[in-house]
Amino acid sequence: MLELKKVDKSFGGIRAVSNCTLGTKGYRITGLIGPNGSGKTTLFNLMTGFLPLDKGEIYFKGERIDAYLPHHIAECGMARTFQLARIFPKMTVLENMLLAPPLQTGEKLCSLWLKRNKIREDEKTNLLKASALIEIVGLSHLKDQFAANLSYGQQKLLELARILMAEPEMILLDEPTAGINPSLIRKMMELILKMKDNGKVFFIIEHNMDVVIELCDWVFVLDNGEKIAEGKPKEIQNNPKVIEAYLGV
Ligand SMILES: Nc1ncnc2c1ncn2[C@@H]1O[C@H](COP(=O)(O)OP(=O)(O)O)[C@@H](O)[C@H]1O
Ligand SMILES: [Mg+2]
Repeated sequence: MLELKKVDKSFGGIRAVSNCTLGTKGYRITGLIGPNGSGKTTLFNLMTGFLPLDKGEIYFKGERIDAYLPHHIAECGMARTFQLARIFPKMTVLENMLLAPPLQTGEKLCSLWLKRNKIREDEKTNLLKASALIEIVGLSHLKDQFAANLSYGQQKLLELARILMAEPEMILLDEPTAGINPSLIRKMMELILKMKDNGKVFFIIEHNMDVVIELCDWVFVLDNGEKIAEGKPKEIQNNPKVIEAYLGV
């Protein structure tokens, strides 16, 4: 579904991503691991159009997307979360959800009257959808709370629920379980597995190896911007190159 070919990205003298070739192949949940500063988030930024690449090609569902802007890539069906959840703290949980309605009513409708009805209908649909998603991520009891009042883990769940509004086919999660408490980690993992069963495809940056082993079908390992290994999570865990990168020996 997603394929990168020889992708490079430097910041000044720092080669953040170097000659990276990788793809999701047919896997439903792909993991991306590597020490801090190894280029994982940069790679996500390149995949989602938040950063331009220096060299290389990126394909999504066979379409070359590396010159597209983020909103265009989102329209192609790829969504992402951020390492630090991006939510609107001074809005309620429900308002946060409604800020990201799926594709808005198109310009195809020429009659204003028709359009007005359509907009009203869309609002109703969005509200129902938002409520259903809030329920799925377990935040119904907080739907009228300001997002700022949510715990960090709950904010991450809200961010995930919000991107689901657009019904993406592929979801990129940047450290979904980092900094959240164990019960919410469980909740997050169950949600990811449930969505996988519903046909979603994931690419996940994750530090917690237990989470990687339980969720991922295939794992790529970055070190200093380079792919140093790939394989099944259990194999990766015992790969000497990977152990070396993490321990720095
Ligand atoms: N916008 C940026 N400007 C300059 N340097 C950056 C920027 N983003 C990342 N880097 C650098 O690129 C390298 C990879 O960072 P990053 O992709 O965030 O790593 P990771 O997510 O694996 O921890 C680091 O050396 C980091 O300092
Ligand atoms: Mg990162």
